[in-house]
Amino acid sequence: MTEPAHPSRHAAATRIAHAGRDPEGGPFVNPPVIHASTVLFESVAQMKGRSEKPARWTYGRRGTPTSEALERAISELEGAEGTVLTPSGASACGTALLSVLGAGDHLLMIDSVYAPTRNICDGLLKRFGVETTYFDPLIGAGIADLIRPNTRAIFLEAPGSLTFEMPDVPAIVAAARGRDLLTLIDNTWATPLFFRPLDRGVDMSIMAATKYVVGHSDALVGTIACGPRAWKRVKATHGDLGLFTGPDDMYLALRGLRTMAVRLAHQQKSALALAEWFAARPEVSRVLHPALPSDPGHAIWKRDFSGASGLFGVVMKGGSDAAVDAFLDRLELFGLGYSWGGFESLAIPADPRAVRTAVPWREEGSLLRFQIGLEDVGDLIADLDAGLARWCAALAG
Ligand SMILES: Cc1ncc(COP(=O)(O)O)c(C=O)c1O
Repeated sequence: MTEPAHPSRHAAATRIAHAGRDPEGGPFVNPPVIHASTVLFESVAQMKGRSEKPARWTYGRRGTPTSEALERAISELEGAEGTVLTPSGASACGTALLSVLGAGDHLLMIDSVYAPTRNICDGLLKRFGVETTYFDPLIGAGIADLIRPNTRAIFLEAPGSLTFEMPDVPAIVAAARGRDLLTLIDNTWATPLFFRPLDRGVDMSIMAATKYVVGHSDALVGTIACGPRAWKRVKATHGDLGLFTGPDDMYLALRGLRTMAVRLAHQQKSALALAEWFAARPEVSRVLHPALPSDPGHAIWKRDFSGASGLFGVVMKGGSDAAVDAFLDRLELFGLGYSWGGFESLAIPADPRAVRTAVPWREEGSLLRFQIGLEDVGDLIADLDAGLARWCAALAG
């Protein structure tokens, strides 16, 4: 394991309360929310970089006290050389890929990746002459056999946010070592509180901060935290693409970050209780949650991660559209919504078959995904229990 770029003697929960504060930012606990495009210079000399007093700020898109506070906070938590912010998690994945790939390059992409990231590979990147090979999430050191002379990047997601396979990140990083390629990971599920990819030699740790960082389902933000090999390229590409995140959204992310450790601790506990409850139910074939000892990814999760968040999958025994509708439509506390990481519980039906190419999805039962919020776990169980009764009635009828 490499040393974090910013070692700290404090625990993550302590760092998260203070991370990113500008020592010269005045007495305010929170940074100002700067709405800015134009920034004024004191003189032409300062504008042209000839002044003895260089301008700290130059143009809204090039950084403000608000954006820098959030960037610094994420860099501190991830142990990064630098972080860029993007207007969504999807744009963070796209920007990260565009930073390292060009015409004629080859990309290795984990088969369990979030579907819109797959779309970037099969659409935009293909159009620009980048070839993508999808690989088995459980490939481990076997990834070495897929690396070609023109492979420039390996993209991981740990665990897959729909099917929850847990890749062996250290084995994949070790196979990539010494070659002219970078490793990237979508770390939205774990956040740097439960897994710090850059400490393990990964070059970019990407998050849909939309989820646990913002935490309140009211803003879209992406982050790309970079190690030294990636930082300059990512910063340049981010600048070239003219990306900037709305100041209010950046503020919401910074504000959400302060409570992320307590929210995640609660969500981890409730999600695990619910995962265990589901695992004991006769209607359930398999629960996809790496913190369960029965999960195939458990040993890797236990070795590499310090916690689990609140998103997991449930494979039912059999199923039908009518049974899924009967279960999910009338849940009182679980909304039907695609996102996760917020304070409220959500559920979706999922069908990975359409988005897998390296390893087919072989489970026959219906797959349901649950995001566990901050509600009382007993109330959530009662809601799901009633849902399972409707499921059984629909299958019987
Ligand atoms: C694993 C993962 N990565 C990235 C994203 C994209 O985030 P956003 O919705 O902010 O674009 C999502 C959104 O659901 C996700 O689940």
